[in-house]
Formats: sequence, C-alpha cells, structure tokens
Amino acid sequence: MRHALAEIGVSYLFSEDAPALLPHAAQLFLVREVLVHPSRWVWPRWVPTPTRRYRTRQQVAFTDALRPVIRRRRSSGRLGDDVLGQMLRPSPRYGLLPEEAILDSLPGITVATFETPSRAAGWILLHLARHPQAASRVAAEAASLPADPASTTSAHLGSLQYTQALVSEVLRMYPPSWLLARRAPRQTQLGDYTIDAGSTVLVCPYTAHRDAREHADPDRFMPERWLDDSGSLAKPGAFLSFGTGPHGCEGTALAMAVLTLLTAQTACRYHLSEPPGPEPGYQVTTLEGLATAGLRLRATARG
Ligand code: HEM
Repeated sequence: MRHALAEIGVSYLFSEDAPALLPHAAQLFLVREVLVHPSRWVWPRWVPTPTRRYRTRQQVAFTDALRPVIRRRRSSGRLGDDVLGQMLRPSPRYGLLPEEAILDSLPGITVATFETPSRAAGWILLHLARHPQAASRVAAEAASLPADPASTTSAHLGSLQYTQALVSEVLRMYPPSWLLARRAPRQTQLGDYTIDAGSTVLVCPYTAHRDAREHADPDRFMPERWLDDSGSLAKPGAFLSFGTGPHGCEGTALAMAVLTLLTAQTACRYHLSEPPGPEPGYQVTTLEGLATAGLRLRATARG
C-alpha cells in the first residue's frame, strides 16, 4: 500500500521525472522509520551517529537527483504541470524561489505525500474487512468509475460521497496524527484557561473526535454521520485529523482524493477479510502517529 501511495505522491509532485526520484523517496521514508526507533542512548544533536550520517547521505542523494531536474526544467523553460512546476514559477507571495529553498523543502513534502496516507490506508482497509456491508456500498458506488483509472475526473471523485464519508469516519476514529502541538507566542485566554507566553499547547484530535458532545455514539463506526438526509456530505462535529488554522495540513485535498479513490478501487475489485490468527494491534508514537501494527488481510476477487 505504501509503495502504491508513494508512486502516486511522487508522480503528483514530479510527473515524468517521478521514476528517477521514486527510489530516493522510498529511502527518505526508511530514514524516518530508522530514526524513530528508540535507541539506548540519546546523543546530543550534534553527534554524527551512524543513523544521522545515514539520514544525511539519503537527503544528499535525493537533492543530487533533484537538482539536475530543476536545472533542466529552468533552462528549457518547460517548467511542468505538477507541484515542482508550480514551485519553479514566481508566486505573488514569495516571488521566484531560489534553487536551495526548493531543494530544502521538497524532501519533507515528498515523504508527506505518502507517509501519513499509508497509515490512514491501513485503518481504512481494516474497516473494509470488518464492515462488509459498508464495503459493499463503497463497491456499488465505485461501479460508476471508468474502467481505466487514468480517465478518472474530479466529477467521478465528487460522486463517491459514501466512500468519502467512510474515509472521514475512519480518520475521525483513528486520526493518524493523534496529537498536535502549538506554541503560544503571547499570553492567551482559551476558554477558562490562561495560557502563559511560551507554553506548548497539546491538542488531541483522538479524544476530541471521541467526545460524545461532538459525535453521538462516538465509538461506533458510522460513515452515515458524514452524510445529510439528501446523501450529501455533512460536517457532524469536531474534525481535526488534518489540523486547523494557518498550519493545517497543506495536503488535505490530495489526501482525501487519493484515499477515496484507493478505497473505491479496492472495494470494487476485492472482498477483504481478516485471516485467522492474532488480531492486528496498533502503535502510537508522537512522530509516527497512530498506525495499525501487524495488519494482515485476505483479498479475494469480487465476483
Ligand atoms: C491522511 C493523510 C494526512 C493526514 C491525516 C495529515 C495530517 C496533517 C496534520 C495533522 C498536520 C499538522 C496540522 C496542524 O498542526 O494543524 C499536517 C501538516 C502538513 N501536511 Fe498533512 N496529512 C496528510 C496528508 C498529507 C499530504 C498528502 C501532504 C502532501 C504534500 C501533506 C502535507 C502537509 C504539510 C506540508 C504540512 C505542514 C503544514 C504547515 O506546517 O504549515 N499532508 N498534516
């Protein structure tokens, strides 16, 4: 799943240059995985531990592969109709970005296109397996999609309302980014609380989403809560899976589009079930977020 999502994300950023960059993107992901593994020693930030040297090598390899792409696009004037192309054009806010600024920001953005979506996809597939009726409804909706996925348009996407509701419901119950942090630059009044300047405020989407004042029967998986009486998308209560405010997720629309299509295409082709054996667990860490662990599913072709 992660591989498929990485291919989609990297193509979205770099289109025809994606194949050259995809292997590096996979390495960048691994670097983050390695870095979050607890080590027995916590070294000061400046110590070049083997893991940190590995991270630096992978980041350098990624920027070494990206630099010639940027230079070729700039010198040919064919900037490209993708995210890199947008970054190469002057924007009203930042003007023309220097090459180093683009090289600095793209490793993080590249990993963001598939890292959190992969975690969300794990929860979605598990719910398709555990809720066969919901999966059948998604499959029925997906029947309207063109046979060739490349012909899918935003109108097709817009017609997948139940599927979008299901994705939102999974993200409500299992927000991959379960903890958000903000720093108060000045003393701030927040409801009955006075937040001192310089304090870190932690906001927990997981508990907000499971609060019965926000969502009735909050522990129940109910995609319908995201649809109004006419079957259009509704906003039932708090939803912080993509954060909020000026630093809210920049990739919300992309993530929702990719996850909705992935869910629809999967449910339409396969019936998912849980094979006998240990129940999948979950892992919760501040950096990796809330993710399934040991998830094994059986996929049989839908008749
Ligand atoms: C299911 C998928 C995703 C989830 C749950 C998610 C969630 C989040 C959350 C919770 C934040 C922090 C928001 C805050 O503190 O208020 C964030 C930030 C961000 N996300 Fe996502 N994200 C997802 C997919 C993506 C994708 C596909 C991209 C594509 C580029 C992306 C790019 C970013 C960026 C650039 C930021 C930083 C925004 C800033 O600091 O100004 N995310 N995301």
